[in-house]
Amino acid sequence: MKENKQIVLYEPKLDDLWFRQECNQDPNTMSYNAGYDLYCDGYHFETGCIDFPKAMWNVWIEKIKNPNMFFAYIQDEKTKKFVGYVNFRKDEKSNSASVGILIKNEFRGQGYMRPAMQKLIEKARFQRIDALTDNVPENRENALKVFYDLGFRKIEEFSQLKFGKKELVAKISLQL
Ligand SMILES: CC(C)(COP(=O)(O)OP(=O)(O)OC[C@H]1O[C@@H](n2cnc3c(N)ncnc32)[C@H](O)[C@@H]1OP(=O)(O)O)[C@@H](O)C(=O)NCCC(=O)NCCS
Repeated sequence: MKENKQIVLYEPKLDDLWFRQECNQDPNTMSYNAGYDLYCDGYHFETGCIDFPKAMWNVWIEKIKNPNMFFAYIQDEKTKKFVGYVNFRKDEKSNSASVGILIKNEFRGQGYMRPAMQKLIEKARFQRIDALTDNVPENRENALKVFYDLGFRKIEEFSQLKFGKKELVAKISLQL
């Protein structure tokens, strides 16, 4: 039986940002993000990687101090290793927040997603956010299974282009 992973959400300091850089420049971790028409600085269409050079770290860490943003590493309590990260961004008007989760490729399939999302939901409740949303391609079945188990519901379906081909996406939401 798969061991239940014990994790904590750790808010990184400047010196910890090497791990975000390591994740964002790893093609195996970022391939899910490849092939989209994203107009963001440092995005690599072919690999999905996003540049995060040290010169950007100071500005970025200041940006996430914004009270509408939350960003944390997922840290394994036992090994103390960082295994991925979660985030949410609150929309002040609707008081809902869009969430994100990424597990570094080498730590996938080991059961980190569920406990990490549970902790993120707790954090959002604590901040009195009304709802969490995400847009998840329908073919990410493992991810959707966990989201639905945790109470998220599909509220809309739309399509987007990945490498020029249509991909179905579920817009999901959890009322807190
Ligand atoms: C989606 C993602 C976060 C999942 O993280 P993960 O740590 O690999 O996920 P888990 O190991 O917790 O597995 C998730 C579920 O899929 C199941 N699963 C994992 N690998 C599986 C496999 N090979 N076959 C069948 N089921 C599998 C697990 O059993 C688990 O369900 P459970 O909690 O009911 O046991 C990770 O793949 C990732 O970072 N992907 C890129 C970013 C992304 O897609 N983010 C989410 C949507 S925006």
